[in-house]
Amino acid sequence: MDKLRIVGGQRLQGAVAISGAKNAALPQIAASLLSPEPLHLTNLPAVSDVENMLGVITQHGAEISRQGRSVHVDASKASSRETSYDTVRKMRATVLVLGPLLARFGKAEVSLPGGCAIGARPVDMHIKALGQLGADIGIRGGSIVAAAPKGLTGARIVLGSPSVGATETAMMAATAAQGETEIVNAAREPEVMDLAACLGAMGANIEGAGTHRILVQGGTSWRAASHHTIPDRIEAGTYAIAAAITGGQLELTNARLEHMASVVQVLEAAGVSVWPGDRGLIVSRDGPLTPVDVTTEPYPGFPTDLQAQFMALMCCAPGASLLRETVFENRFMHVPELVRLGANITLQGTTALVRGGTPLRGAQVMATDLRASVSLVLAALVAEGESIVNRVYHLDRGYESLDRKLQMCGATIERLPG
Ligand code: UD1
Repeated sequence: MDKLRIVGGQRLQGAVAISGAKNAALPQIAASLLSPEPLHLTNLPAVSDVENMLGVITQHGAEISRQGRSVHVDASKASSRETSYDTVRKMRATVLVLGPLLARFGKAEVSLPGGCAIGARPVDMHIKALGQLGADIGIRGGSIVAAAPKGLTGARIVLGSPSVGATETAMMAATAAQGETEIVNAAREPEVMDLAACLGAMGANIEGAGTHRILVQGGTSWRAASHHTIPDRIEAGTYAIAAAITGGQLELTNARLEHMASVVQVLEAAGVSVWPGDRGLIVSRDGPLTPVDVTTEPYPGFPTDLQAQFMALMCCAPGASLLRETVFENRFMHVPELVRLGANITLQGTTALVRGGTPLRGAQVMATDLRASVSLVLAALVAEGESIVNRVYHLDRGYESLDRKLQMCGATIERLPG
């Protein structure tokens, strides 16, 4: 297992190219299974989760050809096969093939994702939504087994909470159902909007993506399509925090301000400057950091996927800040590791009290999920001396060339082969 060796204390300066959004790319790759016509996706990030998803659709008979960050998918000969536990275990988002397979082939079987490091993360809303579209669906032998031999039928689906994945499952399945589907309390994330844009290019008729109510007309006549995946707002937010925590200045090329309003607002309150440049966003900090209380929320609120990184920043802000996590029930796995780096953090239920401003010191740390790992990298960038971040494979799931991008802006970071 590779490790990262980081020596803290360098002020970051330069430009970072923000890659395509992993969380937008994954459902788009799954959506390719809906159509017998080819789908050409561009701007996919070079991360292992994308590799895994491409592996999953290949297992279902899709043929892919690749060129750099583009992939051409021909799913004309695809079929619905069992998606094994081994595949789902690696990446929960694999469950996103369930809707497309069921809608196109009338049957699907996907092993149930287990618990994971950031909470139980059930898939009950995905299952319920497909049931409302007329599928006979249930859990048998540890798998989600679904059948709709006569096809799916449009319906009114009211989601209990605005789940990103369940909204995507419902939207994809509804494109191939008969009649109209209304998804109420839909997630409004930019990745949901980008999936709707991709499905629209493929021939689907979807209105209201980006609002709480999405309307999908079924019976899509599929056509060959191309789609350019949006830039990764979470990667952009992470590098914005890297600039802020080191008191540096970074130009985040490709980053889109309109996807990052709540993040920019919080960063500005913390004493960080963010302004639009010709090629994206520019982020810098000259003065001291100010503590800010933050509550994670579904989009357009502050993203749970930046909570760990923001906590690392708050460890450097003199004073107290409260970080409340409302999206996942157990997303503080980074706290004990930040404490190893010298942070003063007290956990109480879903809230972390950070008393920032005492210097961080280099240490050996280990992380348990993607965003937790990157928060340790951020803290290590300002910690005195050397830190070793173990289990870099978590970072490789969602950050393209993190060590190289940071090196190019002046960080002392190297990857040590395991
Ligand atoms: C997606 C993102 C993930 C992000 C999350 C919230 C992808 C591939 N991943 O995950 O990075 O952290 O959105 O922004 O896009 N829930 C249920 N039942 C369900 C589905 C979800 O109870 O059927 C719960 C989850 O346990 C969680 C909450 O709803 O507490 C939000 O989950 P959801 O929005 O579905 O997240 P994902 O789509 O899994």
